[in-house]
Amino acid sequence: MDKVKYYHIITYGCQMNEHDSEKLAGMLENMNYKYTDQLEKADIILLNTCIIRENAELKVFGKLGELKRYKRKNPNLIIGVGGCMMQQDQPVDEIYKKYRHVDLIFGTHNIHHLPELINKIEKNRERVVEVWDEADGLIPDLPSQRESDYSAWISIIQGCDNFCTYCIVPYVRGRERSRPLKSIVKEAEKLAEDGVKEITLLGQNVNSYGNDLKEKVDFPLLLEALNKVGKLKRIRFMTSHPRDFSDSLLEKIKNLDKVVNHIHLPVQSGSTKVLKEMNRGYSREYYIETVKKIQAEIPEAAVSTDFIVGFPGEKEEDFEQTLELVKELRFDMAYTFIYSPRSGTPASRREDQVADKVKKERLNRLMELQNKISYEKNQNLLGTIQKVLVTGPSSSDENVYQGRTETNKICFIDKRPDLIGKIVEVKINSAKSWTLNGTLINRVKI
Ligand code: SAH
Ligand code: SF4
Ligand code: F3S
Repeated sequence: MDKVKYYHIITYGCQMNEHDSEKLAGMLENMNYKYTDQLEKADIILLNTCIIRENAELKVFGKLGELKRYKRKNPNLIIGVGGCMMQQDQPVDEIYKKYRHVDLIFGTHNIHHLPELINKIEKNRERVVEVWDEADGLIPDLPSQRESDYSAWISIIQGCDNFCTYCIVPYVRGRERSRPLKSIVKEAEKLAEDGVKEITLLGQNVNSYGNDLKEKVDFPLLLEALNKVGKLKRIRFMTSHPRDFSDSLLEKIKNLDKVVNHIHLPVQSGSTKVLKEMNRGYSREYYIETVKKIQAEIPEAAVSTDFIVGFPGEKEEDFEQTLELVKELRFDMAYTFIYSPRSGTPASRREDQVADKVKKERLNRLMELQNKISYEKNQNLLGTIQKVLVTGPSSSDENVYQGRTETNKICFIDKRPDLIGKIVEVKINSAKSWTLNGTLINRVKI
C-alpha cells in the first residue's frame, strides 16, 4: 500500500476563498491525501491568497518565506499558491522568480484543475503555472471537505460586475456568473440530509443573483425555494449591495422563517460625493432610507456594514458625514478598513491620496464610535432570549463553548459537548462590544 500523504491549506481573505479551500481540500481527499495541521508532516501545502488590501499581500509573502525551511527539510514537498493574488501578473512574476521553492501557481478560475496540476508535478518534478485570464463559465460543482458538520457555505453567484473604483475583486474573480436555481436547491437538500442546520449563501453581490441567467429567477425567489428545504433551520447570505436591496427582498427576510434577521449591507462612506467617486451607485440619503426601512419592518434585525476610510479626496467633512451616519443608523457591527490602493483600479491612479497619518486617525475615530454603539446595542440584549447555534469550544478557552445568534453575534455559554451543532435557547446575562454571554434555559428540540 502507498504511504499516506498529507496536505495542509492556509487560507487568506473572504468566505469565498474559505469555501474554495474546502473544495481544494475535497479534491485532495479524493486523491487520497489526508489533512494534517502540522506543516512539517505535510507532503503538499497550498496557500489560497487574497489581494483585497496590501496587508493581505504582505502576509502571503511573509508566509512563503517561512515555508522555505519545510522545503529544505523535505525536498519532495509540493508548495502551491492559488487564489485572487495569482490573477495578477506582478505577484505571479515575483513569486515565480524569487520564491524558487514554490512548485505550483494557479488562479481562481481553474481550481478544478488542481488534481491534474499536482499529477504533473509529481510525475515530472517541474514547476507548473496555470492561470486563466477569464472564467470558462461556472467552476464545476466540486465536492467540499467542509470545516463544519452543521454549517455550510453555498456559492450562488461567482464574480462581480460592479467595478467599485477602489476594488480589485472584479479583475481577479471575473464577471458575474449565477448558478442555476435547481443546482443550488439540490445542494441545500443534500447538505440538510447530511445534518447541516445552517447555510450561508455566498456572492459578492447576492442581490444580482439570476440577472445573467436565462431562467427567470432572482434572489428573493431563491430564498423562497430554499426556505422549503425541510430539515434546514437557518439561511444566511452575504453580501448584499445596498443599490440592489429591494422591497421584495426585505419582504422575504421578514416573512420567510428560516431566513435570518441579519443583513450585512456595506455602506463604505457616509458622503454622497465619496460614494459617487467610489461608483457605488447610491447616495447617503438612499442608504439611510434603506436601513431605516429595514429597522422599521424588522425591529429585531441586526444590520452590519463595511467602511473604507481615507478614500482619495476624502476631506474631513466627508469623514464627519460618515461619523454622523454611524450615529444615526447605529449598526450592530462594522468592519472598518483603511483605503489601500490596488494596482490597476481607477482610484489608485488618483493624485489626491490621503496621507497615512490622516487615514489612521480617521480609522481610530470611527472604530471608537462604532465600538461604543456595538456595546450599547449588545447591552440592550441583556435579559433577552436568543437562539444560538452551538459550534464548540471558544478559541481562547476550551472550557467555554460558543455559538452564533440568529443575528450573527458570538455568544458564550457553559461547556456542554452534547450541544455542538444544536440550536439552543440562551438567556443573555452580560455583553461586550463583540460578544455576548448567556445561560442555557432550555434545549430547543430541533
Ligand atoms: N462585495 C462586497 C465586498 C467585498 S470586499 C461589497 O460590495 O460590499 C470586502 C470589503 O473590503 C469591502 O466592503 C470594502 O469595505 C473593503 N475593501 C475593498 N477594497 C478595498 C481597498 N482597496 N481598500 C480598503 N478596503 C477595501
Ligand atoms: Fe468590490 Fe464593489 Fe464588487 Fe464589492 S461590489 S466586490 S466592493 S467591486
Ligand atoms: Fe475575497 Fe480577497 Fe479574493 S476578499 S474575493 S479573497 S481578493
